[in-house]
Amino acid sequence: MAATHPRHAATTAAADLGDATERTLALVAPLSDADVETAHSALMSPLVWDLAHIAAYEDLWIVCRHGGGELLQPQLAAMYDAFETPRAVRGDLPLLDRAQALRYLAEVRKRTLDVLAQRGVGNGELVELVLRHEHQHNETMLQAIELAHLQPGPELRPDPRPAASGGHTDLEPVEVPGGECTIGAGRFGFAYDNERPRHRIELPAFRIGRAPITNATWLTFTEGGGYERREWWSDEGWSWKEDYDITHPGGWARGPAGWRQWRIDGWSPLNEYEPVVHVSWFEADAFARAHGARLPTEAEWEKAATWDQSPGRARRYPWGDEPPCPRRANLGQTGLGPHPAGAHPHGASPCGALGMLGDVWEWTASDFRGYDGFVAHPYREYSEVFFGSDYKVLRGGSWASRERVATATMRNWDLPLRRQIFSGLRLAWD
Ligand SMILES: [Fe+2]
Repeated sequence: MAATHPRHAATTAAADLGDATERTLALVAPLSDADVETAHSALMSPLVWDLAHIAAYEDLWIVCRHGGGELLQPQLAAMYDAFETPRAVRGDLPLLDRAQALRYLAEVRKRTLDVLAQRGVGNGELVELVLRHEHQHNETMLQAIELAHLQPGPELRPDPRPAASGGHTDLEPVEVPGGECTIGAGRFGFAYDNERPRHRIELPAFRIGRAPITNATWLTFTEGGGYERREWWSDEGWSWKEDYDITHPGGWARGPAGWRQWRIDGWSPLNEYEPVVHVSWFEADAFARAHGARLPTEAEWEKAATWDQSPGRARRYPWGDEPPCPRRANLGQTGLGPHPAGAHPHGASPCGALGMLGDVWEWTASDFRGYDGFVAHPYREYSEVFFGSDYKVLRGGSWASRERVATATMRNWDLPLRRQIFSGLRLAWD
């Protein structure tokens, strides 16, 4: 993977890891010890767990597996293993406190840099795995911060917000012609195991929403009886909605002055142009039925995001092969929330769909399964253990995904009742 000079690759990796940790620290810097150390919800880890888990993961994969060293703190391995210690119990453990966790992070990083200086990055895969792991935990930490209404928000300088595109385009379909396309990541470069192998499929023609569904359109659904009309809901979705008394997306509240929305930087009036966020798969599915539509399958999503009909090949990103930049997509966490739907016309995909990467993760109709020919990664527990009909796939990353992670073939997954993630949707039609 690393085609550059070994010393240069090690220096670049060290700088990238430094950048990742700078962000990790910026997310917790303004928060009190109590905010960092408390489990605010059974759905989310205490932030201090994420800090030490990031360190434990790096120690395991770079210092031990890549460098051949011993674990720095073997007695912590189980407590900071995501599988041995599920989220719901992380608040009850004798976790390291904030100062100890930060020290652990710093000590592991010193060991990592020693390994990189001595052995280089090898083929680069394990270093990339660790780097993306920290990026992904930063998104999880932002979910926890938003969900728990922690204030002040992260110490990030926000990007300027683009204007709304002038007109709602979320119910407007774009055509995707039928025929072959390729799905999944190619053989070269880093990709997670579940993105491979790249394969050809044939899809009938379909239509997909030009933009993700906005708050304004969702409000029409909410106020039009969307949460009361039994016929729009699946049996499981209806029971979930009834059990938890769900009547609107997560983070919404109705006040004397109208609907408000909790965002990472506080309450604000519901922004009609922004994509709806914090909806579950059950809600997304009901919304689609209410509109005589459906959720796209993930293959349809990927085809709409990447397939360039005339050369007959998949683009690396919706707009082409150049890496993400703020003109094209709201990624990188510094948007502090979704931008208005359709606000990044330079990020249009070949079929004209907007906002396929960034802003909100988009629920698809698909269960999370391995592609034919799937081979588990070195980190076996990353995907395979979640395959089956329990989890639904989300695509496209969110404003809280770092650019490096949010590729057009990246697959995320969650249970259909979950909405702590930055999850929205776009519609599809036959
Ligand atoms: Fe993790």
